[in-house]
Amino acid sequence: MTRRTTSLSAVALAAALALAGCSSGDGPADGKPALKVSGAFMPQPVMDMAGGFLTITNDGAAADRLTSVTSPISDDVTIHETKDQKMREVKFFDIPANGKLSLARGGNHIMFMELKKKPKQGEKVSVELHFEKSDPIKVDLPVEAAHHNPQQD
Ligand code: CU
Repeated sequence: MTRRTTSLSAVALAAALALAGCSSGDGPADGKPALKVSGAFMPQPVMDMAGGFLTITNDGAAADRLTSVTSPISDDVTIHETKDQKMREVKFFDIPANGKLSLARGGNHIMFMELKKKPKQGEKVSVELHFEKSDPIKVDLPVEAAHHNPQQD
């Protein structure tokens, strides 16, 4: 936990430095997070559990946190990090100011347990992301092939 906090601070610091070097003046100066979600998907589940992946970009001058996720498909949705190939529930994920939070295969993810139904490739699963500061954001996760991984290159 301590190590994770340290490395996240380093990322936040790097983002702050990058921001300092770019003062075009058109950014929001009121210190609010400005979140956008991209690249969302759910690999087609093979059992009654599933993972969810997406990227949250923060173009605002304030950090935020992803604190929980809800979905009609499961009453047991949590957020997990992966450390040493083991996943562990966390209370929140940091979204740095002028930075991003990536939930990707092999790393941080949304975990859906006890699925009420198993969605098939081509369907969509709606989720609502809850944040410490920002209003909730609704996202449809397209269901992709079980081994879909856009990160591979
Ligand atoms: Cu998990």
